[in-house]
Amino acid sequence: MEQDNKKYMENNISYDLNEQSLISPLDLGSPLFEPKIRLGVLASGNGSNFEYIIKSIQNNQLNAEISILIVNNPGCLAISKAIKYKIPYVIINHRDCQSRLEHDMLVMKKLDELSVELVIMAGWMRIVGEEIINGYKNRLINIHPSLLPSFKGVDAIQQAIDKRVTITGCTVHYVQKEVDSGSIIIQAAVPIKEQDSKETLKKRIQDMEHIILPLAIAKVAKNIRTGFKDNK
Ligand code: GAR
Repeated sequence: MEQDNKKYMENNISYDLNEQSLISPLDLGSPLFEPKIRLGVLASGNGSNFEYIIKSIQNNQLNAEISILIVNNPGCLAISKAIKYKIPYVIINHRDCQSRLEHDMLVMKKLDELSVELVIMAGWMRIVGEEIINGYKNRLINIHPSLLPSFKGVDAIQQAIDKRVTITGCTVHYVQKEVDSGSIIIQAAVPIKEQDSKETLKKRIQDMEHIILPLAIAKVAKNIRTGFKDNK
């Protein structure tokens, strides 16, 4: 067995340690469930995770339909993806609301109207209030670009760089009142390379997000269909 900085040989398989990522739980596979689950996606940004949810549905990896994309920001690029893939969308601009509660209630009304079963915060840059959290208990999940419980809140990737950690990653978790602290569903670890810029690191984290978010959706959807609750 030979080991240097980059390569590691085991059972004749060569791993490039600098490129290796780890997803856990390892045995998740892609959980299967019936019937199709109705998703509501909340987004504020580029919508790359939204697009990967769409792709995993198109590839038959996820037995779901997206009932609605809700964005809080009219300039959000996720809208162009909704148009491209012909997914219904609505802009509920928080700047037009008097309070967080008013905004939350409008979001919830739309989700309820469409009988959404599972809500995905896919780059939703707003804290949601208790009404939505309680209304969608065990049915509201978020993706965050760090290995929670490290680096909660805003700019998690920069927080990891500033702390000079050597491994970071991404987490899908249930949403509860305290920000970024609900039960963890799935995580992926991503090594930070010496030469990484924030952008190169963000790209590798997002590549993993695009894998784990559809898996997490399938896992939670299966829980919903079987009545199993893993959100403690
Ligand atoms: C994702 O990296 C997601 O983890 C992050 O926003 C990005 C949205 O990208 N979410 C948070 O930071 C939430 N605290 P996308 O719009 O391309 O999916």
